[in-house]
Parts: sequence; C-alpha cells; structure tokens
Amino acid sequence: MSSRSEIQQTYTVWDLPSRIFHWVNLLLVVLLLFVGLIMLFKPELGITGLAAKIKLKELHIVIGYGFAINLAMRLLWGFIGNKFARWGTLFFNKEDLKQYINAMKNNNTPQYIGHNPFGKIAIILILLTLLIISITGLIRAGTDVYYPPFGGITQEYIAQKNVDPASIKPYDKTGVDDKKYAVLSPYKGLAGKVHLYSVYFLILLILLHVVGVVLAEIKHQPGIVSAMISGKKSLKSSDKNE
Ligand code: HEM
Repeated sequence: MSSRSEIQQTYTVWDLPSRIFHWVNLLLVVLLLFVGLIMLFKPELGITGLAAKIKLKELHIVIGYGFAINLAMRLLWGFIGNKFARWGTLFFNKEDLKQYINAMKNNNTPQYIGHNPFGKIAIILILLTLLIISITGLIRAGTDVYYPPFGGITQEYIAQKNVDPASIKPYDKTGVDDKKYAVLSPYKGLAGKVHLYSVYFLILLILLHVVGVVLAEIKHQPGIVSAMISGKKSLKSSDKNE
C-alpha cells in the first residue's frame, strides 16, 4: 500500500553556478596536483635546468589563477546563490549530528535535500583548505617568481636603490638588496610550507569526501552523485531533511 508520505518528490538542490564550481574545481585541483607533483619530484624525473624549473612554476601559477578565480566566485556565490549554495546552509548544531549518528546506528538513515551534517563539516573544511592553498600559492608566486598580484611589491621591496624593480628576475640576484631579500626569505619559506602541508591535508579531505559520498550513495541515499550533475534530488516526502 502506498501512503502519501512515500511519494517521491524532486527538489532542485545544487544550482548551476555551484555545479560549475564543483567540477571546474575538481579538474583544476587534479591539474595543479599533477604539475605540483612534477615540481616536487623534479630530480627524480631528471628535470634539473633552472629554465625548466621556472617554466613548471609558471604553468602551475597560470592554472592556479583559474583555480583561485573559480574559488573566489564560489565564496561570493555563498551570499547570492540559492538556499543550498548559501553560507547559512552549512550551519548545524550538535543535536543534528547526534540525531544523524543515532539514525545511522539504527539503520534508519534520514534523507537530506542538501548536505548531511558530516557533509557540512567536509565542505567547511574543504573550502577553508582551498582558500589557504590559494592565498599561500599567490604569496609564493609573488615572492618566488614575482608573479601578480604580489610580484610587483616584492620586486619593489628587494630592489637596490637606483635599480628598476621590473628588471629583477627570478633566481637572479642582480640588482637585489641582500639584506632585504634575507628579511623576505622566511615569509616566502613559510608560505611554501603551509601551501604544501595544506595540499597534503586537502588530499586527505578529498579521500574522506569521496568515501563518504560513495558510502552514502550505496547505503542510504542513491542519487547524490548524479545530483551534482543534474542539480536535482528525488526524495520520499516523509524522509526529507533540509
Ligand atoms: C588545490 C590547488 C593546488 C594544489 C593541489 C597545489 C599543489 C602544489 C604542489 C604539490 C606544489 C609543490 C610544492 C613544492 O615544490 O614545494 C606546489 C607548489 C607551488 N604552488 Fe601550488 N597548488 C595548488 C594551488 C596553487 C595556486 C592557486 C597557486 C597560485 C596561483 C599556486 C602556486 C604555487 C607555487 C608558486 C608553488 C611553488 C613553490 C616552490 O617550489 O617555490 N598553487 N603546489
């Protein structure tokens, strides 16, 4: 017998800009990771020349601009987008989490139109980590190979008096004030370290996110992967959780 509560309803969840962000971000993260790993394992791969080293960094940075712009647009969309794209959707309290854990323990997992509480935690951590990677990447790009937006001020700061800052070249000390370069060095080093460790943390988060999504898809809420393509979820009205 079919009661009214068992009728499936279709909800539009992920709006187009959120879906575009998600898949563009995935593509660019994979590309950046690929180029980043080549940069990290240059000696093992037999890449030794300075020109090749700089070219790899430039390629990584150009892709990185696309990644940072895509992220900035998503962060902005959090104030403009539909209900499930907005920042408010990521709030949850301890009770929501407890209820979700208890429901799962009893094999009675509720269906969510948006994210379940674990999904919310994952999204908050992933977006924060992406932001830290962007900021430290841009700082490193500016202080290492003098790329925008921080390259110009770095060149101006380290240039010797009467030297045109624009003439300062990466990995070339001509015209560079050694003392000022030494002041800059620890910040450049710190940005590089934070960038790399945040990338390791991101890889861990991506693995957890993928495992969580696949388990949820198989065990209790089929259709969540295709929802990130179509934007739509079909749920029983009795089970719906915002
Ligand atoms: C999720 C996105 C990203 C991933 C997975 C990623 C990954 C990596 C990896 C694995 C390295 C090698 C670390 C090393 O050689 O020490 C690296 C270095 C670097 N990344 Fe990224 N990166 C990302 C985003 C960005 C962005 C947005 C920018 C700036 C536009 C950027 C700029 C740099 C620079 C300049 C370096 C060179 C550090 C150095 O060796 O001097 N990265 N990145």
